[in-house]
Amino acid sequence: MIDTKALLDNMTLAEQVSLLSGDTFWSLPPIDRLGIGRLRLTDGPNGARGAGSFVGGVTAAAFPVGIAIGASWNPDLAKEIGSALGDEVLSKGAHVSLAPTVNIQRSVTNGRNFECFSEDPILTAELAVGYIEGLQSKKVGATIKHFVGNESEIERTTISSDIDERTLREVYLIPFEAAVKRAKVWAVMSSYNKLNGTYTAESHWLLNEVLRGDWGFNGVVMSDWFGSRSTAPTVNAGLDLEMPGPTRDRGSKLLAAVEAGETSAETIRACVHNILTLMERTGAINDHREFKEYAINRPEHRALIRRAGAESAVLLQNDGILPLAQQGTVAIIGPNAKIAQVMGGGSAQLNPHYVVSPWQGLVDALGEENLFYARGCSNYRFQPLIENPTTFEFFQGRELAGEPVKVVEEPSSLGVWLPPVAEGTVDPHRFSARMRTTFRASEAGVYRVGLTSAGLGRVYVDGKLVVDAWASWTRGTTFFEEGCEEVVGDVTLEAGRTYEVVAEYARHDHVNLYIAAIRVGIGRFSAEAEIAEAAAVAAKADHAVVFVGRTGDWDTEGSDLRGIALPGLQNQLVEAVIAANPNTIVVLQTGGPVEMPWLSGARAVLQCWYPGQEAGNAIADVLLGKAEPSGRLAQTFPVRWADNPTHTEDDAVYPGKDGHVRYDEGVFVGYRHYDRLRIKPLFPFGHGLGYSRFAMSDLTVELPDAAGAVTVTLGLTNIGERPGSAVVQIYVGDVEASVPRPVKELKAFSKIALEPGEKRKISFVLDARTFAFFDTTERRWQVETGEFAVMAGFSATDVRLSGAVTQKGAVLAL
Ligand code: BGC
Repeated sequence: MIDTKALLDNMTLAEQVSLLSGDTFWSLPPIDRLGIGRLRLTDGPNGARGAGSFVGGVTAAAFPVGIAIGASWNPDLAKEIGSALGDEVLSKGAHVSLAPTVNIQRSVTNGRNFECFSEDPILTAELAVGYIEGLQSKKVGATIKHFVGNESEIERTTISSDIDERTLREVYLIPFEAAVKRAKVWAVMSSYNKLNGTYTAESHWLLNEVLRGDWGFNGVVMSDWFGSRSTAPTVNAGLDLEMPGPTRDRGSKLLAAVEAGETSAETIRACVHNILTLMERTGAINDHREFKEYAINRPEHRALIRRAGAESAVLLQNDGILPLAQQGTVAIIGPNAKIAQVMGGGSAQLNPHYVVSPWQGLVDALGEENLFYARGCSNYRFQPLIENPTTFEFFQGRELAGEPVKVVEEPSSLGVWLPPVAEGTVDPHRFSARMRTTFRASEAGVYRVGLTSAGLGRVYVDGKLVVDAWASWTRGTTFFEEGCEEVVGDVTLEAGRTYEVVAEYARHDHVNLYIAAIRVGIGRFSAEAEIAEAAAVAAKADHAVVFVGRTGDWDTEGSDLRGIALPGLQNQLVEAVIAANPNTIVVLQTGGPVEMPWLSGARAVLQCWYPGQEAGNAIADVLLGKAEPSGRLAQTFPVRWADNPTHTEDDAVYPGKDGHVRYDEGVFVGYRHYDRLRIKPLFPFGHGLGYSRFAMSDLTVELPDAAGAVTVTLGLTNIGERPGSAVVQIYVGDVEASVPRPVKELKAFSKIALEPGEKRKISFVLDARTFAFFDTTERRWQVETGEFAVMAGFSATDVRLSGAVTQKGAVLAL
């Protein structure tokens, strides 16, 4: 154990201050004089990307995204994943992971919906605890994020989330509270947004009172990247670390603030103590190894990811067609069949070791001779990238003048640069770049060229200007809200000819997050003829499986969705395939709910999310019954977007108005809203079929013990013919509440695997807090005197057994 107090005594104020901000994008400065090593951090929730940019970089294992882990309803699995991610973080030379993401799925359109576990606070909390325990068992610090109220990507770095305290305490703070109290998390990341008008990074109430005071947090609070916007106010509020580096508001500014009495040496000391504690916990304090990142493609990670993919797959509908009989032919249709959709977009992105597409998974399982294929239509948000070697020439200054100072080769027409750009050869704020690649037109006709750029950009095809986002550049929603919307231009190309594509880029002053980027794509229009061709292919086969959904360009940090219909012509495609082949199975891959107008015609629907690098194998395992689809929805799927609690007449509720987004639905988020208004969802929270069937029996609800805890017991039997698992869900409702409370709130759950005919007795202990609401007048948790309903079910709308218990009123500690 290093004596951090003694170390602190030996540090000058300047040395102390140096540890309160990053020196690079992903690290803190070492202090050689005192032998203090360099603390390194890496994103993120579904893998360890390392210190590279958001694209390219050393390869890493791609794990299932948050909503997939959410759908597993399995905290033990979350723990295994956390522990494997710990190995990954270490392989990237880092000590801290910027994960997990535990914001709540409030609207169904949030760009980061895919990154979050659930709409329910307790499910989120249980999974977060497992995940953090797993990571920290490897001495890798978890950074639970984003604290708090970051439920949308609209105006994400400035908006104020206006949430009343009861809603905060009962919903949005719950996962953070569990992470601090139970998992003893080592770091917390403040969110970009304001909370009730104050930046969370400057909220004394949130950081000092609630987090440290009420919950006893003793780790590091760091800002989201560029989310710290002041000097003394952040330090005084309890924000230990400004990220990334080099500093904007600390360093000499912080020394001056101490000098001016705006903050104190004791406050600095407390922050540094927290940083040293994190360095001690992770071993960074003594880590003087040469920095190196490794790509370690481990078989045990591959096996875990494949298993987790199946564990998170939710069988939404099945008339018995699944598992698929392994004889006959199968038509594999859809834009997501041959393209592996393994993750969402944004800071959770990484460069996977490899990916397996559904097509590949099914070819390996069934043999290519038994399969037909047709794409049917596209589902891209932007014109597809040119996947050809692409050079980027970098110039000092914004004029593309003189000789390039650096030339870099990338695998496609995408460049995303964080400081230091081009290995530090150019000033990240004043540089320009020329991109060169080639494009071969496979057929003759009109092609659409698309450009998105964080910075000014224009594109030439064979010397002719086709897209111009230079003079008219305006900020849009791409590249973390730093880039423009896609600007397009059309060009007529000849079949078989190769064209030179050149794009010019210049950094400009519209900078918030210091991300420089350009993306060029070229595509053909998706025509109805392609759908007809797919229908004809489907008609030839015994079965058709349609792979539709979204991609990481849709489900991405930086922009919310504009609706939840499947993008492009995918609904027409599904309908056409169903019409052509009565044995049609739909496989969805999205980061959240979608509307399904064709549902009644599909014999089975399987939701597989973004399950990581083993996507195709996991999907094939489930389709063919080699693995049980044991996922359950962690988020309600509404019939239509308009049914969602945030979809109201009032823009202030969503997407926000005048810089504020008001959480008017309060604690009635997710299934609590559908329950309250008796809206029938398309598929309820907690829903998911398996390949077996289960029955519940003999619910007993004991009297509360002296502390108000209640033991609930029931029997679970596998009444089907196959081994399988069920998720038993316990909901509680305050029948005699004096304040508006949900009809039911999830309070406990357990995933149980049983052999056919096997029966097991299961018990849950519901502590007093289970029954409490947050009383804002007393500012305490309060259990009201009276009767509570205790319900056991397989989903929020499939309650099988109910009981009741009477509580004596009690007030509980914070
Ligand atoms: C995201 C964080 C992430 C950070 C570093 C931000 O844009 O909101 O979740 O950890 O970038 O990449």
